[in-house]
Amino acid sequence: MRTTTSLVAAIAAVFASATPAHAIVGGTEAPATPWAVALTDANGQLFCGGALIAPDRVVTAAHCVTERSAVGGRGRAPESIRVVAGRSDLRVKGTSAKVASVWRHPAFRDVTGGDDVAVLTLSEPLPQAPVPLVDADDTASYAEGTEATVLGWGRTAEGAAPSPTLRQVSVPIEADSDCANEVQGFRADGMVCAGYPQGGKDACEGDSGGPMVVRGKLVGVVSYGKGCARPGEPGVYTRLAAYRSRL
Ligand code: ARG
Repeated sequence: MRTTTSLVAAIAAVFASATPAHAIVGGTEAPATPWAVALTDANGQLFCGGALIAPDRVVTAAHCVTERSAVGGRGRAPESIRVVAGRSDLRVKGTSAKVASVWRHPAFRDVTGGDDVAVLTLSEPLPQAPVPLVDADDTASYAEGTEATVLGWGRTAEGAAPSPTLRQVSVPIEADSDCANEVQGFRADGMVCAGYPQGGKDACEGDSGGPMVVRGKLVGVVSYGKGCARPGEPGVYTRLAAYRSRL
């Protein structure tokens, strides 16, 4: 019994030391951020992130609520989505909110085409304070070099496991002209890129739908990227100011 316990402890220690010190990719443990939500299936399995913008409304990515297998991309059923708010560690048991309805941007086809935004209306309001949305006419938040914070429970490296706790990373907004050279199909009217030319810091799989914040306002949604944190491959985010009137 004793041997078993110490063996378990030893194995746990090996795993603990193997856990990357940096995560999202290149990030750190996030402070308490109650409006940052995890989207899980009915079994509690994480599939995306989101942000609470009103007590009963969550902004996420359209691709997060699209059934991948279906040709044309059918919407994910609201009953199959749970919203976890006010909790950093997803291993800790707690309550989650149910979704009454899903709005997906009607023009969304796939991430590379843009319009990757959706709004979930919850069955009941949540007690957590929502995050303010960017103004429709805010251009300063998308200016080159602006530091943006991205949050999520996604992978901490390409091929690594998602993080059980909420992580965050700070990345600079890229000039639209630079992004247009790097990302095929880039549309400045609905997308914005962020990241370092040398890579190293980025969102990754599982962070999709999650928040990008500038000066306390929600300015973007994690949409896609080629791999994670690769040099010359910025993260692509939905430019929320462009969709402000629909949210
Ligand atoms: N599409 C991914 C997801 O579903 C997130 C992509 C973000 N990738 C990146 N390199 N910024 O979770």
